[in-house]
Amino acid sequence: MHNDYHRISLGFFPTPLHELKNLSQMLNGPRIFIKRDDQTGLALGGNKVRKLEYIMADALAKQSQVIITVGAVSSNHARQTAAAAAILGLECHLVLIGRQPQERQGNYLLDDLLGAECSCVRNSQVASTVEILMQQYRDEGKNPYFIPAGGHSTEGVIAYMQACQEIQQQAEYDYAAIVTAVGTGTTYAGLYLGEKTKNHAPQVIGISVGGDQNWCSEEILSIIHPLEKQMGMTLSQAQDLSIYYDYIGAGYTKTYPQLREVIKLTARQEGILLDPVYSGKAMLGLIDLIKQGYFTREQNVLFLHTGGAPEIFSYNTFLTEID
Ligand SMILES: Cc1ncc(COP(=O)(O)O)c(C=O)c1O
Repeated sequence: MHNDYHRISLGFFPTPLHELKNLSQMLNGPRIFIKRDDQTGLALGGNKVRKLEYIMADALAKQSQVIITVGAVSSNHARQTAAAAAILGLECHLVLIGRQPQERQGNYLLDDLLGAECSCVRNSQVASTVEILMQQYRDEGKNPYFIPAGGHSTEGVIAYMQACQEIQQQAEYDYAAIVTAVGTGTTYAGLYLGEKTKNHAPQVIGISVGGDQNWCSEEILSIIHPLEKQMGMTLSQAQDLSIYYDYIGAGYTKTYPQLREVIKLTARQEGILLDPVYSGKAMLGLIDLIKQGYFTREQNVLFLHTGGAPEIFSYNTFLTEID
């Protein structure tokens, strides 16, 4: 299926896959492996690079000169899009949700370094701002290309279906599950669909970082149903998705002490850096499931590290607080 879509090279693939021996031993649970999509290479990496290899191929095919996308002020997707546009010699305009920060830090600092133009707006102003910008660029004789927040698109799903093949080629073991963070759900959707076609496939477990069950199911099902129809598959239902909502805390970007503990634990046991918005919550979910006895000691589980490193520095106060 993914062979029907064009892909350009923006990052370093395949990303490494290795074992987290210290963490596995400490938890006395299954063997834990990690797929390093935090190491996709482009401008500090992350899962969006994989999606952007397909999305930007589409933008180039449509002869666009300007890329417009949306995200939070702290968006990893926005930063990686800015980097992809820079390589390809395209203009990039980021519509960022939130108050304009007083200082450039984290992803917002890197957006500027990468040459993107940024407009900070309220959530309620996003759609109209995008519409106005698209028109402005058209009036200038340019052909703007819009990427939905988080790269939530068919191309994004295709990218993670392809990632399943990459994982299969690297795997020395059978995995009982692949665990990933769920933001817009595109990564989850791709993994879910990529594994759906296989026999003895690992269960794809998502850990929501903000969205509730209705929102996540709707986002994921609406993007996979057209592909399932195209591939002649039965249409998935909400109950087919394995997503946990217990690790969100007070909401998207909101932190709490157990999150800090897991981020520190993973750093100190494995030298792996997790961010408090996405990968930290996902790892907390995995560790909690292991502690609850969800997996046997004989099983292997694969954690997909989706990136997010730049935001670690914006959370310096939270990460250095003492409980
Ligand atoms: C670091 C990181 N991890 C995970 C996600 C979630 O990916 P998705 O939007 O595909 O669910 C994102 C972006 O939303 C992200 O930036």
